[in-house]
Amino acid sequence: MMHRNPSRTLVLGVTAALALTTGGAAVAADRPVRDRVDRLLARMTLDEKLGQMTQAERQAVTADDITRYRLGSLLSGGGSAPSPNTPESWADMTDGFQRAALATPNKIPLIYGVDAVHGHNNVVNATIFPHNIGLGATRDPGLVRGIGRATAEEVTGTGPDWTFAPCLCVARNDRWGRTYESFGEVPELASAMASIVTGFQGERLNGRASILATAKHYVGDGGTTGGDDQGDVDLSEAELRKIHLPPFRAAVRRGVGSVMISYSSWKGVKAHGHKYLITDILKKELRFSGLVVSDWNGIDQIDGKPGFTAEEVRTSINAGIDMVMVPHEWKRFIDTLRAEVQAGRVPMKRIDDANRRILTKKIELGLFERPFADRSYLKTVGSAEHRALARRAVARSQVLLKNDRDVLPLARDGKLFVAGKNADDIGNQSGGWTITWQGASGATTRGTTILDGIRQTAAPGSTVTYSKDGTGIDSSYKAAVAVVGEKPYAEFEGDRPGAMGLDADDLGTIERLRASGVPVVVVLVSGRPLDIAAELPKWNGLVASWLPGTEGRGVADVLFGVSRPTGKLPVTWMRSAEQQPINRGDGQTPLFPYGYGLTYRR
Ligand code: GLC
Repeated sequence: MMHRNPSRTLVLGVTAALALTTGGAAVAADRPVRDRVDRLLARMTLDEKLGQMTQAERQAVTADDITRYRLGSLLSGGGSAPSPNTPESWADMTDGFQRAALATPNKIPLIYGVDAVHGHNNVVNATIFPHNIGLGATRDPGLVRGIGRATAEEVTGTGPDWTFAPCLCVARNDRWGRTYESFGEVPELASAMASIVTGFQGERLNGRASILATAKHYVGDGGTTGGDDQGDVDLSEAELRKIHLPPFRAAVRRGVGSVMISYSSWKGVKAHGHKYLITDILKKELRFSGLVVSDWNGIDQIDGKPGFTAEEVRTSINAGIDMVMVPHEWKRFIDTLRAEVQAGRVPMKRIDDANRRILTKKIELGLFERPFADRSYLKTVGSAEHRALARRAVARSQVLLKNDRDVLPLARDGKLFVAGKNADDIGNQSGGWTITWQGASGATTRGTTILDGIRQTAAPGSTVTYSKDGTGIDSSYKAAVAVVGEKPYAEFEGDRPGAMGLDADDLGTIERLRASGVPVVVVLVSGRPLDIAAELPKWNGLVASWLPGTEGRGVADVLFGVSRPTGKLPVTWMRSAEQQPINRGDGQTPLFPYGYGLTYRR
């Protein structure tokens, strides 16, 4: 008789016991994933399969709904947080939803998604990293991977298992309100920064702090005519493949677990209903084996009219969407899809394929074995270690564009005047997708403003005067720093079809500083290049700071020379808004070319 390895026997015994208590041998943890999926599928009713394909917003369900409708996924839309918005209450909330999901016959755990797009940005006091456009300026995929890891730890401690990130959009027109969510205007930069997928997921999905990543928005969201968010991509297939597809190929190669479909259309056909793009190219040609999720009410847009119809449900599922983000109308979605399946207009084969993809990711993530928040990671939320990483990323993202007569680096013992609406405002320096969907000005979360950073870096006993609009400056100051730019926005709210210059307040502030005769350094906190060519000759220095997040000291590190500026433009900087779209190699003459960035001579 072959003596089985006693410990293996013990494992099998425990596993079998586990299987019996958690819904039968289908979920025995040591069986091959495919086998576990097959056994689960064989036991599932149609309604259980439809529930797995449904993602509802947390505010639109009760625990009983989750159990009764066998819901497979929930999400927090931008800013959708428990009250109080603390890491512990997030963990309590997600665990509560999870217990409701496990109270079903097959005990299939929920997968909970959030937009952790620059840190775990829905959570107050979490570490907020620079938005992607600043990370693109670092040209450092290793740094960006580390940011993914840190974010995954903060997400894991609070309970969610899935982030709707990274955005691998290639922003081709800076008028687009989501330009800052892009790593840059060329595909190779976004492809390189797909390293963050490995940061989020780990080398294998079942790591202790692995969360499912999402390559989004497939495909061409950054290439719409006029930079119109959710607009139309009027490109040939060759151009679409050349510019917008490579980052998704890179993410698939890294084993990205999910792909989110873009609201945009290609030559007039909405991506959410595009079988050639989703099934033929993404799933077959790129061999993507993860799950495809719609965007928020994304299927509603297929016919261009509000709400979704049976035809839109059928079209999107048959096109290859596996899970539908249907925040509020999720009951009607389930009923509609059931009717389409029963009428034979959506094949059961498609339903099973979608469930196979969803269940495979849940099993690979280890959700059946570890369905609840891993509260050992709660201490990482906003931790000193993560904030130090963010500060390094901020410093590396700064791009020095002008430095007349070496006005920078600033002397630490010099008498300094600081002004501008973005100098002392955590909300403005973090941008959209921060605590709320659109973000907001003010002290929205814990962090270090750029002014705080300047004060912490200046020599003890030196003078740092702050005046938001520049009032009070005189010629006794060695230099003036004007921290100006944009206020927070997200998605279409940030589209700028008209002028792209500084607002009147900022121009007035800078003029006030200039009138004193003191050298002026402008620090631009914005989600994109702005139209500043006419003003630039009047400035002595210019730093593109992008949207640095909570660790504003990283900006001061560069201003004072604690860190030398190494950032390079991830996007071409227009000479005027009329040049948009303007990109590398298009024959236009920019103010600063893609890849431009100065450093200090000393
Ligand atoms: C939004 C965005 C998408 C986000 C989703 C969930 O509308 O387009 O990027 O992941 O909804 O918040």
